[in-house]
Amino acid sequence: MDIKPLTGGLGAEILGADIRCEDQFEEIRSAFAEYSVIVLRNQSISPEEHLAFARRFGSINVNRFFKPVEGHPEIATVLKEKDQKEAVGEGWHTDHSYDQEPAMGSILHSLDIPPYGGDTLFVSMASAYEALSSKMRGFLDGLWAVHSSRHVFGTDTLDTEAAKSGRLGNAHAATQDAVHPVVITHPLSGRRGLFVNPVFTTEIKGLSSEESAAVLGMIYDHCKQPEFQCRLRWRAGDVAIWDNRATWHKAINDYHGFRRLMHRVTVEGVALSP
Ligand code: SIN
Repeated sequence: MDIKPLTGGLGAEILGADIRCEDQFEEIRSAFAEYSVIVLRNQSISPEEHLAFARRFGSINVNRFFKPVEGHPEIATVLKEKDQKEAVGEGWHTDHSYDQEPAMGSILHSLDIPPYGGDTLFVSMASAYEALSSKMRGFLDGLWAVHSSRHVFGTDTLDTEAAKSGRLGNAHAATQDAVHPVVITHPLSGRRGLFVNPVFTTEIKGLSSEESAAVLGMIYDHCKQPEFQCRLRWRAGDVAIWDNRATWHKAINDYHGFRRLMHRVTVEGVALSP
């Protein structure tokens, strides 16, 4: 297989791999550990094969809010129809950061791709952390932040297009709040990185609400710099995996009038430590 880095910060494209082959898995896993986001091109797989690949990484985390694929409750549908305006995941976020044990990562299989647009952006949270001054790293080390699902998937969101169209549901189940370190040690690599995100993080504990908003705003502006990013231009048949403990991502909603359909499988993670 041919592994080509996408940028200097994170991400790699893999050609010539077949995710169904067990004997290729160690090489794929090691590329995933090194680059945090990998895209395996030209995969012709069934939902069962998607799940079998995900299970090599760990147990499946069944998403409570996304519409499941018919006959496959462990696979979430990530869909925008051509007449819809809102896309899933438009804000910078880390999937499942509102869980006590945030998911290790998600595996997206692209099925229907618009002729242009609909890319996904990723940020390396370790590169962003390492680029902060040592004084700022010292200030953030040891802080903890609250993450919540309520304001994103809860009953206050029933008026959104995603809820009304049935793409998102189960709003009454949005009761998860979790507290995680602002700076985590990655459970596999040991690299330190920021673990707050604009969609799910609600406050930094121990700061006033004004201080918390200012510090989070500073972190978010810092992380959005292009130097820490990579951009994935999807092709139908791609399978991409990202590490939620090492990245943010954001779906670009710039393909109005076209359909975009992905299947997403999420893999369980572990509790995070400073
Ligand atoms: C997601 O946020 O999980 C979906 C990302 C995408 O559709 O590009």
